[in-house]
Amino acid sequence: PIVKELLGLSYLEDTLRERFGLRQVIIVPGDSDQSELAKKELGRVGAAELRKYASKDDVVAVAGGSTLAEVANFLTPSAHMKGNLFVPARGGWGESVELQANSIASIMAKKTGGEYRLLHVPDHLGEEAYVSLMQDPNILEIVEVIRSARVVVHGIGDALVMARRRKSDPQTIGELVAEGALAEAFGYYFDKQGKVVHKMPTVGLRLEDIQASEVVIAVAGGKSKGEAIAAVMHFGHDDVLVTDEAAAVELMHYI
Ligand code: BG6
Repeated sequence: PIVKELLGLSYLEDTLRERFGLRQVIIVPGDSDQSELAKKELGRVGAAELRKYASKDDVVAVAGGSTLAEVANFLTPSAHMKGNLFVPARGGWGESVELQANSIASIMAKKTGGEYRLLHVPDHLGEEAYVSLMQDPNILEIVEVIRSARVVVHGIGDALVMARRRKSDPQTIGELVAEGALAEAFGYYFDKQGKVVHKMPTVGLRLEDIQASEVVIAVAGGKSKGEAIAAVMHFGHDDVLVTDEAAAVELMHYI
């Protein structure tokens, strides 16, 4: 806390919390774009927040990404998280295996002593395939579990960085630019005002499920993500933001 005072981080935390109407903002020192240490610190604090907000026998829906992978690394066995069921927030879409929500859910379960369930849906599902997949009782059952999540933990990415990382085709990238997409989180793309302008064709959490969940925790940092984080905060359904100093300074331009 003394270090936070000296760096002015407490002031930033209070300002961002008030302006974005969040329950809690935690800022770690540094810039995770530049520093592995800052990224690890995001993971450590993200894990502590998840531990704090998760209660016994919760369904916890987790998104993918390198930041969430760090959060998973810092979880430890805990009596009160033992009954938790970790599930991926959405189906996979072209991420490398370690960064997929399925893998992260399973690591979180192993680290905490909880349970996990996986969702196996192919990438880039067409409308027809989606409709028939949703008639499969096994898929339907796990999707219902995901949609009942009380806690959601997710990363935030820059829209175009994420679209390229997921090998989206040039047409989709063109649409995202035209729609003004700035940010991506759990498969949805957001514009400057926090409006959803695009979504990945996959199953799992819908926006109404995110609204209905009790605790939504975002973990994202790095100077390059400032504007993207602001867009998702304007969407307005997060309760807790764990970020770093460099992103927080950028965020101040968008409040
Ligand atoms: C994705 C999440 O897998 O990771 C997104 O579904 C997020 O919510 C992205 O945008 C962030 O990735 P990273 O590697 O920057 O933490």
